[in-house]
Amino acid sequence: MRMRERKIRWSAGSEIAQVAFTVAIAGKGGTGKTTLASLLIRYLREHGGGPILGVDADPNANLGETLGMRPEVTIAELLEEAASPQKIGSPAVTKEMYIEYRLHAAMVEGRGIDLLVMGGPEGPGCYCYANNLLRHFMDELSGGYRFVVMDNEAGLEHLSRRTTESVDVLLVTSDPTVRGLAAASRIDHLARRLKTRIGERHLVVTRAPAGRLEGTLQEEIRGAGMSLLGVVPYDPAVAEFDMAGRPFVELPASSPAVLGAEAIFEKLGVCR
Ligand SMILES: Nc1ncnc2c1ncn2[C@@H]1O[C@H](COP(=O)(O)OP(=O)(O)OP(=O)(O)O)[C@@H](O)[C@H]1O
Ligand SMILES: [Mg+2]
Repeated sequence: MRMRERKIRWSAGSEIAQVAFTVAIAGKGGTGKTTLASLLIRYLREHGGGPILGVDADPNANLGETLGMRPEVTIAELLEEAASPQKIGSPAVTKEMYIEYRLHAAMVEGRGIDLLVMGGPEGPGCYCYANNLLRHFMDELSGGYRFVVMDNEAGLEHLSRRTTESVDVLLVTSDPTVRGLAAASRIDHLARRLKTRIGERHLVVTRAPAGRLEGTLQEEIRGAGMSLLGVVPYDPAVAEFDMAGRPFVELPASSPAVLGAEAIFEKLGVCR
């Protein structure tokens, strides 16, 4: 398995991998994508998986809040600035030069993790130029990290517009309901048809009471042909932290969601 090969290279004490291992998280609205992304970042950081690049690819960005990090500008704002000759200031400065120069303002640097927020929503028109530019920067940037963790919006927009060349693992989140699983299955199908190369796809069910799945739900998952990686239990501490606006990275280590998520990431085997 490719994931394992990379892991062995690291544990043999080699330099940082040339291409970061990318985990993208997708799923219907409100199914726990951002929570799972922040728990994955926490796990990677605590298991020597840094440096990590967190990418918030949801226009309604809030991964930063769950990590306690906030960038000066979003990538969307940066692209808008770069389109304004007044902002650029000199005809000798190209858009690419301006973006490269300003990119540091869009990157928040934290302990073992840097965060980029894509921002949006975008207006109408063709974004091919912006997307190509973004892909170029993403590919260049991700070379300096071991892991890229990408929190997506429900519609897989960024993956379908190929702002990332390839994804090693796609985690599709669902709530523990038949309707939720049907939506996850549609996202799973959509992901199969994307041009973006996706190494593995797995389902993660979140907010399951006591971390258990009823037989009917298990049958649904089998019937849809999805690979269930694991279940994150419903955790009142997550709800409490969310209400108080506290970063999820500060959740106690004994918290059920943290433990459930850890077991899931252990199965992925990226840090052992
Ligand atoms: N394991 C959990 N236990 C309890 N509450 C949870 C858990 N996971 C997520 N939540 C809560 O569910 C809500 C949605 O979670 P989250 O924001 O992570 O979902 P999302 O899929 O990223 O949503 P969106 O589609 O709006 O981006 C939040 O209020 C969060 O606090
Ligand atoms: Mg979210």
